[in-house]
Amino acid sequence: MPETLTVTDNRTGKTFEIPVTNDTIRALDLRQIKVKDDDFGMMTYDPGYTNTSSCISRVTYIDGEKGILEYRGYPIEQLAEKSSFMEVAYLLLNGELPKKAELSGWEEEIHHHTVVHENIKRQMESFRYDAHPMGMIISTVAALSTFYPEAKNVRCAENRRLQIKRLIAKVPTIAAFTFRHSQGHPYVYPNNKLSYTENFLTMMFRMVGNDYEPNPAIVKALDVLFTLHADHEQNCSASVMRAIGSSEADPYSAWAGAAAALYGPLHGGANEAVLRMLSEIGDVSKVPEYMKKCKNGELRLMGFGHRVYKNYDPRARIIKKCADDVFEVTGRNPLLDVALELERIALEDEYFVKRKLYPNVDFYSGLIYQAIGLPVTMFPVLFAIPRTIGWLAQWAESLEDKEQRIQRPRQVFLGERERDYVPMEQR
Ligand code: CMC
Repeated sequence: MPETLTVTDNRTGKTFEIPVTNDTIRALDLRQIKVKDDDFGMMTYDPGYTNTSSCISRVTYIDGEKGILEYRGYPIEQLAEKSSFMEVAYLLLNGELPKKAELSGWEEEIHHHTVVHENIKRQMESFRYDAHPMGMIISTVAALSTFYPEAKNVRCAENRRLQIKRLIAKVPTIAAFTFRHSQGHPYVYPNNKLSYTENFLTMMFRMVGNDYEPNPAIVKALDVLFTLHADHEQNCSASVMRAIGSSEADPYSAWAGAAAALYGPLHGGANEAVLRMLSEIGDVSKVPEYMKKCKNGELRLMGFGHRVYKNYDPRARIIKKCADDVFEVTGRNPLLDVALELERIALEDEYFVKRKLYPNVDFYSGLIYQAIGLPVTMFPVLFAIPRTIGWLAQWAESLEDKEQRIQRPRQVFLGERERDYVPMEQR
């Protein structure tokens, strides 16, 4: 069977053989299809990139129809149950699970970089008391590029590895500082004797003179949540990370761009939007009325639907179980009943069934974050911390990919052309 696609251009009657590799044709192979010799040639038009592969990747695999998610070939369910977030981070970045000594060496290296320069702290203190934590973390991580100017040397693999470790280590410190700032509490410095998630919880919740020890069930739940959020192949923010990286900008600036993309309510900001929605609905009795508005297009059911998953998001299933474990410690979040009723109706309702709209990762995660004492504005930050791993794994992969070039899409131009300037008095 020939691995080609035969295309006949009915405008000219000419036929073209286009090579097919991995069920994909190269867009540039269409350029030979022209009506006149001086035509530009055929392009594809794909707003929102719904059917365009922008890269070859070996990091994360998703089968949206079957609800499968794998990091480097390992199913997310097994990783969530058996590994730690630091182990998953190593896996995503290096391609293999670490041996015991590799994992402890990796954790040690991350510990080594958790502290931020005092000027970073002072800069953060200058934000308004009610600054949104996402605005704070985006601008603060961007500012890190001024502390590590050598980071722009992105073609050096060793230098890349150093910046990757710095980002993974410092993002939770900055994230915890944004929370302390919003509470008007002094910032808590990292404690390198603690695990990644324990340290993060401690930097957020330890009060002066208090021996805060995070509850192990909450540490475990957060570690699982971090694992579930670590990567998700070519989503909006990962694509932004790759796009900014393609101009060879430093990784701190690229991280800031990716996090800005994550912040939107259709992407990582959805967890914040879900909690606002659940609070607005307030009571199970109000659910049918809200659903009616979603179905007639007035509102979106936040935390539902996904570009890739046309089945139950496997991460949502694990998070639902995680929520039960956390609620045993914190007490049940009263909004859970509203969420369960929304899900129950949506899974039976023709509108949602026909469009294959299922709960996604953001539907239940916010209920957990709220139960552990975080305000809704921190929710996207809790997404950005673990997603740092995926962004960096993909950024490094794209820089090592010889086929990648600066990202620069084409357009279909339908605007005015070749007009003569009209003087002001004649308009
Ligand atoms: N509530 C109601 N209707 C919806 C929803 C929803 N949440 N999502 C999609 N639809 C409808 C949409 O109106 C459209 O209907 P029609 O065919 O009649 O015009 C159809 O389903 C297809 O939707 P789409 O907007 O073309 O799908 P998309 O792939 O462009 O968008 C999405 C995917 C995630 C942006 C969208 O489902 C959405 O806005 N969901 C709510 C926000 C959300 O939860 N985002 C988090 C995504 S998971 C975390 C992450 O990876 O970032």
